[in-house]
Amino acid sequence: MSESYYITTPIYYVNDVPHIGHAYTTLACDALARFKRLDGFDVKFLTGTDEHGQKVEKSAAAAGIDPQAFTDQVSQNFRDLARAMNFTNDDFIRTTEKRHHVSVQALWDRLVAADEIYLGSYAGWYAVRDEAFYTEGELTKTEAGKRIAPSGAEVEWVEEPSYFFRLSAWQDRLLELYEKHPGFILPKSRYNEVASFVKGGLQDLSVSRCSFKWGVPVPGDDRHIMYVWLDALANYITAIGHPETETGEYATYWPADVHMVGKDILRFHAVYWPAFLMAAGLEPPKRVFAHGWWTNEGQKISKSLGNVIDPFWLIEKYGLDQVRYFLLREVPFGKDGDFSHASMVHRMNGDLANDFGNLAQRVLSMIAKNCNGCVPLHGDFTDEDNQLLGAAHGLLVKVGESMDVQAFHEALETIWTVIRAANVYVDRQAPWKLKKENPERMGTVLYVLAETVRHLALLTQPFMPQSSERMLDQLSVSPEHRAFSFFGPEHALVPGTGLPKPQGVLPRYVEAEAEE
Ligand code: MSP
Repeated sequence: MSESYYITTPIYYVNDVPHIGHAYTTLACDALARFKRLDGFDVKFLTGTDEHGQKVEKSAAAAGIDPQAFTDQVSQNFRDLARAMNFTNDDFIRTTEKRHHVSVQALWDRLVAADEIYLGSYAGWYAVRDEAFYTEGELTKTEAGKRIAPSGAEVEWVEEPSYFFRLSAWQDRLLELYEKHPGFILPKSRYNEVASFVKGGLQDLSVSRCSFKWGVPVPGDDRHIMYVWLDALANYITAIGHPETETGEYATYWPADVHMVGKDILRFHAVYWPAFLMAAGLEPPKRVFAHGWWTNEGQKISKSLGNVIDPFWLIEKYGLDQVRYFLLREVPFGKDGDFSHASMVHRMNGDLANDFGNLAQRVLSMIAKNCNGCVPLHGDFTDEDNQLLGAAHGLLVKVGESMDVQAFHEALETIWTVIRAANVYVDRQAPWKLKKENPERMGTVLYVLAETVRHLALLTQPFMPQSSERMLDQLSVSPEHRAFSFFGPEHALVPGTGLPKPQGVLPRYVEAEAEE
């Protein structure tokens, strides 16, 4: 039986249309899910939409439709994005589904049974935009006297009866969890940030509201609606069959291997969520990875500035695999990054078209022209041949190590060292000159290159699936031979295998055409 691997995206608020931030989080998960599947894992990859709460209720009211019809409409945009980005999620959860109501109410019951919840009353600040409570000390005042949360969201005063979760009692156990599992929060800088927040002391958390209706009612007291974050976080276990925990998918996939989140929602995932789970007698996830935020041409992205980047537009303009590659390569995963047309085109024309696309194209067209369109026969390998082949064979382990710590940029950089080495090798060996003087050597050189491209195309599948698949098609590698178990010399290309007519993959960006 293969080892399981469970990876999740945050579930997206449906008050918004999908933007680059949503595409980015899910893309990172998709690349990881594809990598693990190719590496033989039994992967479950989950995404979905967060459909309850005051924010969604308000957006539906503003649109003049009832919240259910509103969420039905807007949730579809996120499914469309998944299709457009070629995401391979195994499930798409919506918090308005029946299975989720059942699961989140069962989680509540577990917390009540463990005496982790009590009735009190809340008086304090709340930001609807963040769906989060803030203390006075966290707020700043604008010139007009408005109070603003650190995220920039406006807060309002809330005073109402509320159920509370005994978060304050979980401080030591959370710190113990972080210390025992240093990989629980990545990257390291975020780990320190969360640990010092928890060391600073935790207050009990208000987990129900009575001032609106759009959510899951508290079992036995339906004047109260559950706090939208408790509701939303539970999606990760709903999707694997909670409240059933002994058998089925829960038994197979929990605890999750990675919850991928943006840095803004780390606290909910690395503090509240493991506390809720442990309090309910369930295991915490293995890791929460917090990635950074994108700016647009140096500016913070915001609706009011009108500079939101639409992922559908990006794909249309630059191509899907180009966008996927850029987002994962441009910025060390975990750090903030800047999107600019210039840097996009630089990656697209440099790394993709010149380095990788050109390598594949040169090799395949020389084979088509000089070797009857078949995988060439080869003689003995020289040191230089073995060096390149060895570097290609060695990639899987190195890239796997980077993927295991979600260092996508590093994984790609490692793959590109071999792409560059292969280009240097072509120039030095100059197979085009060998045709007359030493055709057998030409065959060997082209064989070494084709084998190298096979390895590179196998390994780039998680990042740029369509282009890698087209390269593998052109090498006549059958779809059943594309998993990483076919990596290495034992599964090398067989001389004499017929190859289809080569076609360019990974084109250059042509400025004039795009500007018309
Ligand atoms: N609904 C909550 C998550 C609940 S999970 C149990 C939520 N949704 S969200 O739609 O607002 O956020 C979705 C994700 O988009 C977050 O991970 C957030 O960090 C990410 N991004 C939003 N803007 C972003 C950028 N400009 N850049 C990168 N990611 C950004 O929060």
